Amino acid sequence: MASELELAAARRLLAAAGSLVVLTGAGISAESGIPTFRGPGGLWRNFRPEALATPEAFARDPLTVWEWYLWRRGLIDAAEPNAGHRALVTLEQRYERFTLITQNVDGLHDRAGSRRILKVHGDLWHTRCTGCAYQRKDRALAYPALPPPCPECGAPLRPGVVWFGESLPRIVWAEAERAVAQADLLLVVGTSAQVYPAAGLIDLARCAIEVNPAATPFSSRVAVALAGGAGEILPALV
Ligand code: OAD
Repeated sequence: MASELELAAARRLLAAAGSLVVLTGAGISAESGIPTFRGPGGLWRNFRPEALATPEAFARDPLTVWEWYLWRRGLIDAAEPNAGHRALVTLEQRYERFTLITQNVDGLHDRAGSRRILKVHGDLWHTRCTGCAYQRKDRALAYPALPPPCPECGAPLRPGVVWFGESLPRIVWAEAERAVAQADLLLVVGTSAQVYPAAGLIDLARCAIEVNPAATPFSSRVAVALAGGAGEILPALV
């Protein structure tokens, strides 16, 4: 667990920063009961990413892929944002220049009340067409048929998330890189920092704080690494 000295050092960095960027990963939603991807209980322990989270998997077996994403929608729909998500809303209100970059597709930052969010891996509550430009917000937890057909062209609809092997949304990613490069401070929360290009954002930061109960490849390189859960550490910081 992070010491009082470490927490004080992180608070000083936050107070001195004129602009702040926060980068979150699955760990911030762990205390809401949403499984992370890696580590104990992680989704990739029980499911193979190449069978569920690639364009090839969807082309081969759209039914299974949709069922998996609808199962995750159900889990997330029944969950609530936690104290970590809420502390980031408080932080956003303190800075004139603030950006929240998330790798999460769960929408819990939106539900907590965060406003300036860049979703670099897309959004589970978003559906788009594999054949045309059609897309929509989508809260459905079930459909009459899977895969649901596009109302405009009839091609299969797919979850609006980024899969392995796909590019990140171009404009969102450019904004994320610019925000990190220009910010005084980057706060990295709940990511194993293993998935690129997102993890590469940490290298662009002038100064960074990490919040994670486990060590990551960046823990020894950030200004302050705070060991602990986001739901405990973030409220203690703000
Ligand atoms: P991971 O599952 O790789 O990492 C989750 C991190 O959260 C780990 O480092 C944990 O130690 C940490 N963690 C666990 N509980 C925590 C808590 N209470 N508070 C803070 N941190 C905690 O998740 P990501 O790094 O987000 O990609 O994974 C990155 C990407 O890999 C995901 O966006 C997803 C996945 O495949 C796509 O879907 C494209």
